[in-house]
Amino acid sequence: MTPVAEQRTAEFLDALGAAFGDGTLVKLKLGGYHGPEEGLKSAEGRKVALKGGERLSIVWRYQTRDITKNYEIGGALALLRQGLAKDFRSARLSTTVFDLTFERNGDKVRLKREEVAGREAAPVTHDRAKDRPVAAGKPWLRSLGLTDAQGRVLDSAQDKYRQINKMVEIFAPLIQAIPKERLKRIVDMGAGKGYLTFALYDYLAGNGFDVEMVGVELRQSLVELCNGIARDNGFARLRFVEGSILDHDASGASVVIALHACDTATDDAIYKGIAAGAELIAVAPCCHKQVRREMEAGRANAELEFLLKHGVFLERQAEMVTDGLRALMLELSGYKTRVFEFVPDAHTPKNVLIVAQKDGRAGRDRDAVLTRIADVKRTFGVGRHYLEGLLGV
Ligand SMILES: C[S@@+](CC[C@H](N)C(=O)[O-])C[C@H]1O[C@@H](n2cnc3c(N)ncnc32)[C@H](O)[C@@H]1O
Repeated sequence: MTPVAEQRTAEFLDALGAAFGDGTLVKLKLGGYHGPEEGLKSAEGRKVALKGGERLSIVWRYQTRDITKNYEIGGALALLRQGLAKDFRSARLSTTVFDLTFERNGDKVRLKREEVAGREAAPVTHDRAKDRPVAAGKPWLRSLGLTDAQGRVLDSAQDKYRQINKMVEIFAPLIQAIPKERLKRIVDMGAGKGYLTFALYDYLAGNGFDVEMVGVELRQSLVELCNGIARDNGFARLRFVEGSILDHDASGASVVIALHACDTATDDAIYKGIAAGAELIAVAPCCHKQVRREMEAGRANAELEFLLKHGVFLERQAEMVTDGLRALMLELSGYKTRVFEFVPDAHTPKNVLIVAQKDGRAGRDRDAVLTRIADVKRTFGVGRHYLEGLLGV
């Protein structure tokens, strides 16, 4: 860069440093990236207050993901000095008093300042990760391979981390609503590596719930791993057992959950929850092969042929029909049931959650619900839903 360009870059960064210091910073934007970092497109900075002091929080925006890092202002200015000299062609500093734009063309830099009026400084937010129910610093997250030695969530684990936090946010109030004397045991069916099991147990134990929790899993190696992690973390009332969902004795369970248990394993979990008279049953289904096969083999309403002849629509319909019938059968069994997305589908396409709360309505609308189930099956060419067989409907 020419000396003039260097001086203008310094001017831009001085203005950023001053706005950060005197509380007038609204935001910083960097664009026109053409450096070596693959997929990086732009960046956006704002001031945040963390335990260790105020930081410039920069969201590095990549083609497929965002990465947020928090910097002390001195370190941030040094980093930005390099970035503006080589990698970013444009930047815009917005303060409560003025906008300052930076444009670099080769070795030349142009600055343009425009005064503004009536703009308020962005509120200095606190680190949002800290507000999550499952703090990233938990040692068991590291043991499960979701965080690094400094307690930072790995890039590859961001979706999983977001999902378990969302699940805890959804489940905690539902569990809280269960009268204490009826809250005895939570069973996580198809617990896998126990991400959700650990998250929910740790959250509940840390928030005054005296509850036992069991993870049921077919794979012995995962059961051993999870029991070891539970022991190491002093989780005395959490255990994992090897075996199939159907063989598990769930009697007395107050809550039955299943996150992405495969195909009909979700039905096994629902059935076990209903049979146990659980207060709450919550499942995020995985694949929907059983009903899809039924739909392929059966004769759907001819009016649906234009849809179901396309594999992609058949797949989507199979998912909706499977879960819609599950919801009806839960209603039939005395549960008030809701179906909704628990995270945006950008994080996982398997983002539907069925939440059923016991409301003692069993039998009241039984005939009407049975008729609806029969109608749906006829319409979509489903001979039998696997859950019907379990429930003896
Ligand atoms: C996709 S993983 C999900 C694991 C975990 N719930 C999660 O969301 O991270 C499904 C797990 O369910 C287990 N599983 C599938 N069918 C099962 C069954 N019938 N009984 C017990 N576990 C089962 C599998 O071994 C696998 O670990």
